[in-house]
Amino acid sequence: MDCSLALSAVKASQFIVVAKKPITIASRFSPDEQVVLHEGDCLELLRQIPDHSVRLVVTSPPYNLGKSYERRQSVTDYVTFQTRVIEECVRTLVDGGSICWQVGNHVQKSAQSSILPLDILLYPVFANLGLRLRNRVIWHFEHGLHCTNRLSGRYETVLWFTKGDSYHFDVDPIRIPQKYPGKKHFKGPRAGHYSCNPLGKNPGDVWIIPNVKSNHVEKTGHPCQFPVELIERLVLSLTKPGDWVLDPFVGVGTSIAAAVRHQRRGAGAEKESQFVAIARERIRLAASGELKTRPMLKPVFDPKDAGRNLTSAPWHEANSVYPEASIRQLALLEPSVRKRRVAR
Ligand SMILES: C[S@@+](CC[C@H](N)C(=O)[O-])C[C@H]1O[C@@H](n2cnc3c(N)ncnc32)[C@H](O)[C@@H]1O
Repeated sequence: MDCSLALSAVKASQFIVVAKKPITIASRFSPDEQVVLHEGDCLELLRQIPDHSVRLVVTSPPYNLGKSYERRQSVTDYVTFQTRVIEECVRTLVDGGSICWQVGNHVQKSAQSSILPLDILLYPVFANLGLRLRNRVIWHFEHGLHCTNRLSGRYETVLWFTKGDSYHFDVDPIRIPQKYPGKKHFKGPRAGHYSCNPLGKNPGDVWIIPNVKSNHVEKTGHPCQFPVELIERLVLSLTKPGDWVLDPFVGVGTSIAAAVRHQRRGAGAEKESQFVAIARERIRLAASGELKTRPMLKPVFDPKDAGRNLTSAPWHEANSVYPEASIRQLALLEPSVRKRRVAR
């Protein structure tokens, strides 16, 4: 492929965020709107949306953990409510549309804090509605609670289902740099030619994207908002400009912001008025091109490479006052690295 053509395709799809118009945010769904934000229960919004209207449903529902915005309920009641919402979402989906349900673990108090992965719990709900699972994306991040009685949780999942077998999927806008761009075919008619796709490679089903913690550029007052780039990947690959993107549990509006940044329409419901107010502001900023986001493709921050303090271990320094820690930490190193460090 011609390199300049390839580059302009990548630019058009990935880097140029063209939506820069003031936007009207409607409170009731109509197919002619650009953005709909419903303050209240998601089932109320869903009932307003006609069958076969939405190209992508993407959401992260409450995990039934008793967070500030949810009431803990029995697992049976939780699944019953989720099923009602999922059934309505599927009804609103166009044939060939996608539904991405992003979840982590529910922690069961009644079972001595054993974990219940919500994707395992909810998979049968989608399968029973005839949806096809296309990927179970692992979203890996490095920050979170440090557990003492099990391994610290550092991933959640996105279940991507489609309604039907003929569905929209375009990987080009979400390709990532090739690992070996200089690799060539070594035999056959294309021997000597570069073998990789110049547009980049398929990003795979393990996505390393920092979660939104306190010093993240996108952080708002919401305790568990999506990073915009997580949703941008789904919006860019699973929808086309002008399509509807729906998030029934929209929180501070990340899904709609990601949609309008790429000229899609967005609809969402949120029951907490303080989050609706933040969502409204973020959607306006996204529409005018002023929403600050962590860019797609930005490498994960490495504090050591960035020369940040606190990254060198005091126990490795000469005359350390922590000899015990030094011995323990040295024991964690791979033997050849340990040898070099001790020799210093
Ligand atoms: C996990 S958070 C989603 C955060 C969102 N992904 C974001 O980026 O801001 C779930 C949200 O759903 C809202 N919520 C819970 N039950 C709801 C319901 N029945 N209808 C509408 N919103 C609800 C909560 O208030 C919470 O903000």
